[in-house]
Amino acid sequence: MRIGILTSGGDCAGLNAVILAVVRRAVLGYGWDVVGIRQGTHGLMQDPPQAIDLNDYVNNDGMLRLGGTILGTVNKGDPFHYPMPDGSFADRSADVIAGYHKLGLDALIGVGGDGSMAILHRLAEMGGINLVGIPKTIDNDLALTEYSVGFTTAVNVAVEALDRLQPTAASHDRIMILEVMGRDAGHIALFAGVAGGADAILIPEMDYDLDALTEHCLNIRKRGRNHALVIVAEAVKRDDGAAVTQGDDGQKIRYGGIGHWLADELGARTGWETRVTVLGHVQRGGIPSPRDRVIASAFGVHAVDLIAQKRFDRVVAWSKRKVIDVAMADVIVGPRLVDTKGTMVSTAKGLGAYLGHPPE
Ligand code: F6P
Repeated sequence: MRIGILTSGGDCAGLNAVILAVVRRAVLGYGWDVVGIRQGTHGLMQDPPQAIDLNDYVNNDGMLRLGGTILGTVNKGDPFHYPMPDGSFADRSADVIAGYHKLGLDALIGVGGDGSMAILHRLAEMGGINLVGIPKTIDNDLALTEYSVGFTTAVNVAVEALDRLQPTAASHDRIMILEVMGRDAGHIALFAGVAGGADAILIPEMDYDLDALTEHCLNIRKRGRNHALVIVAEAVKRDDGAAVTQGDDGQKIRYGGIGHWLADELGARTGWETRVTVLGHVQRGGIPSPRDRVIASAFGVHAVDLIAQKRFDRVVAWSKRKVIDVAMADVIVGPRLVDTKGTMVSTAKGLGAYLGHPPE
C-alpha cells in the first residue's frame, strides 16, 4: 500500500504533528509507504507530481513541535477554477486525479478546512481517488467536530496577548482592543476572551450596540477599574452592519479595520485613551499547544486506520472526548458558527462581559 498526504488552505500549528502521526501509523503499524504532496492539490497537478518520500520521517520527532507544514500549502489553487498565467481560469481537476495515479497512490489523506474539504470531496466524486479528510483550521468552524487542529494554539496566542495587554492597560489607564482572526466565526475571540478576562467580546454571530458598549466601559470605570480589555473578531462589522472600508472604491479592510474603527469610536465616546493590537498571522505559526498535538496525533492515527478499513470519503472528527468519523459531504455545509445560546456565550455573559445579542 502506498498512501499520500497533503495539507491545504491556510496553515496552522499542528500540521506537522498530523504528518508525523500519519507516517508513524502507516509505516510502523501497517508497513505502508507514505508520500507527501507539496503545496496541496497544486503539487498533484504538476508533471511529474511534486512529492517527497516521507517514510524516513518516522524518526523525525522534531515534527511534533514544528509550526507550519513541511509540505507547503496553497489557498488560492482551486483545481476546478485554477488561475492561469494569462489571468484566465481553467478546470484542472483531471490533472489532479492524474497526479494521484502517476504517484501510484492507493489512498490520499487531505488535511484542510471546509473549502479544501469541498474541493477534495468533488475530486473524490469524480471517481478513482480514495480519500480521507483531517480537519484543521484556527477558526475551528468546521461542522461536526468540536476541535480542529490549530485552534487551541491560536487561542493560546490570543490569551497570551491579553495577558500582556492587561498590565500595560492598567499602567496607562487605557482601553486595549485586541483584534483576532476568524474569517466567518468568533470561536477564537470567544474562547480567548473568556480565558483572558476580556470585558467585551465582539463576534460576528452577535449584534452589538456602540452606545451599550460605551456604557459598559464607563460602568467599569465607575466600579473603580482604570482600564478595560476588548477582544474583537476580524469578521465583526461596524455597529450599523457596514464593513470597515478604505479608499474611493470602498475596499473592505481585511485586517485591523474593525479594531481601529472601534478604538476611534470608543475613544471618542468614553474619553478614554485607546490602543489597538492586530494579532494576524501570529496566531497561525509557532509551536503547537499540547492539545493541538494530541488532536493532530489522534486524527492522524485514525485517518490511517480508516484507510486500512477501506472507509473512504470520510472525515475524522473530535466528539465527546473521542475521535469519530463522519461523511465528508456532511462536513461541507458552511462554517460552524458560535452557538449564541451555548455555554461559552452564557459563561462570558455570566462573567459580566459585554457581547451584544443574537441578531433579531
Ligand atoms: O481560515 C484561517 C484564517 O487564518 C482566517 O482566520 C483568516 O481570515 C484567513 O485564514 C487568513 O488568510 P490569509 O492567510 O490568506 O490572509
